[in-house]
Amino acid sequence: MSRFNDVIAVVTGAGSGIGEQTAIQLAHEGARVVLVGRTRSKLERVADNINGSVTEPVAAVFPADVTKEADVQQLGMFIKQEYGDLHVVVNNAGSSGKSSILDMEAAEWDRIQETNVKSVFLISKVLGPVMIEASEAAEQLENRAIVNVASLSGHKAGAKIPHYSSSKAAVINFTKSLALEFAPYGIRVNSVSPGFAETPLTAEGLKNKRFEEAIQRNTALSRVGKPEEIASVIAFAASREASYMTGSDLLVDGGWLIK
Ligand code: NAI
Repeated sequence: MSRFNDVIAVVTGAGSGIGEQTAIQLAHEGARVVLVGRTRSKLERVADNINGSVTEPVAAVFPADVTKEADVQQLGMFIKQEYGDLHVVVNNAGSSGKSSILDMEAAEWDRIQETNVKSVFLISKVLGPVMIEASEAAEQLENRAIVNVASLSGHKAGAKIPHYSSSKAAVINFTKSLALEFAPYGIRVNSVSPGFAETPLTAEGLKNKRFEEAIQRNTALSRVGKPEEIASVIAFAASREASYMTGSDLLVDGGWLIK
């Protein structure tokens, strides 16, 4: 039996990288997946890929900016009207940038905090009640889970990413607060903290051979990760296999932090 049969899932930032691979994995294991992101064409490419390999379409696209409350409210209404249920939410949308504290414009600070932290708050505030209602109707017998994508940078300082690392530390701790608040409704909340994975977010940096060599040197497994190696851990945290896990952060960093 597939782990996500009869499951309705939302994945944000599903148009590329880790979000794309997560959506593909959940769908291949039986879920109906709503792909959320700002660019319709990117989402449609992923949805076509997923739907092309199954008999009935299981992937739907919902273009939205997850930093905007009105967009997130519309997403909530769409889920209620189209599905009337929600089991899994993966808050994966995120952004990064490089700047020292002294050089950083306040607008850049806000952009990163809003994309990485406010979005997780908004999605939890709007989709949380949809999950709670469904959970109560099903007498908490079904698996329901939220997985927030944090980062290795939420655990350690990195050069010239004070906005990014502080935002990801916030995601890890927000996850714990939400886990406490949602536990009585039978909804588990965990975070996954990737190390370096090869995605559009890291593509520019990885063009620099010295940067890639530094990752290899600093990582116990001596290599950059693949997005599907992060997606598989997100899927685990979202599945019934992780039924006794809530408020945890799963570090998937190839052994960077232990070196
Ligand atoms: P990516 O750039 O491929 O994915 C991020 C996705 O989020 C993109 O599709 C982007 O369009 C979307 N997004 C950004 N702002 C948005 C907004 N306001 N509304 C809706 N969608 C928005 O990069 P990647 O690597 O797949 O990133 C996924 C998550 O993993 C991010 O949260 C990132 O911080 C995290 N992460 C990635 C690491 C890596 O090495 N690739 C390492 C640690 C964490």
